[in-house]
Amino acid sequence: MDIGFGVEQLRVAVTDAVRAPSLHNTQPWRFRLRDGGIEVLVDPARRLPATDPSGWGARVACGAALFNLRLALAVAGTPAVVRLRPYPAEPDVVARLVPDVPRRPTPLEQSLHAAIPRRFSNRAPFWPDPVPADARWRLGEAARAEQCWLELLIGTSAVNAFAEIARGAHRVLERNPAYRAERAEWVRREHAPDGVPAAAGGPQSEPQDLLPSRGFGGRDRAPGRDFEPEPLVAVLGSAGNTAVDQVVAGQALQRVLLTATDAGLAVSLLSQPIEVPGARDQLRLSLGRFGTPQMVLRIGFGQPGWPTPRRRVEDVLDLPVRPG
Ligand SMILES: Cc1cc2nc3c(=O)[nH]c(=O)nc-3n(C[C@H](O)[C@H](O)[C@H](O)COP(=O)(O)O)c2cc1C
Repeated sequence: MDIGFGVEQLRVAVTDAVRAPSLHNTQPWRFRLRDGGIEVLVDPARRLPATDPSGWGARVACGAALFNLRLALAVAGTPAVVRLRPYPAEPDVVARLVPDVPRRPTPLEQSLHAAIPRRFSNRAPFWPDPVPADARWRLGEAARAEQCWLELLIGTSAVNAFAEIARGAHRVLERNPAYRAERAEWVRREHAPDGVPAAAGGPQSEPQDLLPSRGFGGRDRAPGRDFEPEPLVAVLGSAGNTAVDQVVAGQALQRVLLTATDAGLAVSLLSQPIEVPGARDQLRLSLGRFGTPQMVLRIGFGQPGWPTPRRRVEDVLDLPVRPG
């Protein structure tokens, strides 16, 4: 067994890690090598004080990046043993990975890893075709494999009840000028290494839309190009809501997203009802499930979309300084 991970392994794995989703594409992560372990840290300089005052979104994003990191290391033949929040005195360190016994990657690891560059948020209307039962089952299994649950809302009344909660949360958020200003700051009209390019931001919302969209200043909608009438909405939840639970939820989110990509499905994320505490409680009660909702996903068959940019690997690494 290797004594520790090296700089080259770190660089290769981080190339995959940074493809993870993050609120407004802030990419709130850093990666470092310490005593042969790879560590994932929340980058405090990239928090969103108005949108994410508790740091929930940053920890979910770091959890998603951590899942990509795990896959990349496993596919390279050295899977990692992971410890979450390893240093109580350093809460920004969300995970530490040390080498496990080398082995061949499994076919599942290989196919999920291959899906990393093909995954992106697709905010456009999906085709009305239903998501097949075997894909639904695989998505639930993906969440369970990461100690989370995925509740698929079945039937018009469940989806309508959810939509009402989501629209209410959206209205609460939109009343906050600091929230609106923060979102506007992260919409990109020109090429940039972070933020949401207007082209990827989805179409403008219209009054007949069932689900609220975040509003990244997207393009006008072609006439008649409405959202699917019966979207498949899924709620991802974790056992609790500690900082560790949120990192766990981020890993489960990424596993579900890559599973969806591998199955040819498109996904957009909707977190307004998670960000407003009253709406999150309502959602939890409406599901009647033990645990805490951490993310909502709209899943279906979509047209090809728009991957968003990322910062360079060099810009998110903290490498040990060599003496001399
Ligand atoms: C915690 C979290 C919350 C998010 N919430 C939303 C949301 O409410 N609406 C939305 O359109 N996208 C949401 N996203 C998706 C991000 O905007 C998206 O991941 C980011 O812009 C990068 O784009 P990509 O997913 O295409 O790589 C969220 C992502 C994360 C990790």
